[in-house]
Amino acid sequence: MAGSALVELTGIRKSYGGMPEVLGGVDLRIGAGETLAVIGPSGCGKSTLLNIVGALDRPDSGSVRFEGAEMLELDEKRLSAIRNRRIGFVFQFHHLLPQCTVLENVLVPTIVHGHGRQAAADRARKLLEKVGLSGKLSSRPGQLSGGERQRAAVVRALVNSPALLLADEPTGSLDRAGSENLADLLGDLNRDEGVAMMVVTHSPHLARRMGKVLELRDGQLAPAAA
Ligand SMILES: Nc1ncnc2c1ncn2[C@@H]1O[C@H](COP(=O)(O)OP(=O)(O)OP(=O)(O)O)[C@@H](O)[C@H]1O
Ligand SMILES: [Mg+2]
Repeated sequence: MAGSALVELTGIRKSYGGMPEVLGGVDLRIGAGETLAVIGPSGCGKSTLLNIVGALDRPDSGSVRFEGAEMLELDEKRLSAIRNRRIGFVFQFHHLLPQCTVLENVLVPTIVHGHGRQAAADRARKLLEKVGLSGKLSSRPGQLSGGERQRAAVVRALVNSPALLLADEPTGSLDRAGSENLADLLGDLNRDEGVAMMVVTHSPHLARRMGKVLELRDGQLAPAAA
């Protein structure tokens, strides 16, 4: 598939302290609207790679291009603007604010802009309806099931219409039904919103919903065995 490169990683190397390299020269390209699952054993470097793609962490060497800009040359102010507007993050544990309602939680990323509050609230409501949470707008995270919390976290990640969604084990805390539901939801959101996705997962169901599955092993990315 052609498509312009949204993300292009070249020669990414990363080690921690004096330990052997976690990433040993990884190349990765994600086109606009493409979906990708990264699998691999615990400790192989999946989160490290995801955090480098999202500019939450820096590699020792290599290049990270996002929408054509070299991320490693940008200052923290520019990086946080890109992270806020162009990239959505979903983590294994939802990181919702317990004292805020569902609607307030998903609006957190829109606060920074300081404009278009009505449009942001409309979009948040629309997305919450799409994920089946329209009856829970005023609930607190503590009153939701694990799957409902993860769906709220996905809406929060998408509320600013990012080009890329990064998800680190988004179904890790869910049971089988919950993870299949979330996997289906991510597939639908990719189709409806055109958002590209890079998902780290142990769930075969979620991996199958992504257009491509790569395995990280011995510091290298390779197509996963079917
Ligand atoms: N901040 C850090 N300091 C030192 N070592 C780290 C740090 N973060 C990760 N590591 C090490 O780097 C390796 C890769 O870690 P990473 O979290 O990327 O693995 P992972 O593939 O996401 O594993 P899991 O499936 O268990 O989440 C591990 O050996 C880990 O101990
Ligand atoms: Mg991890």
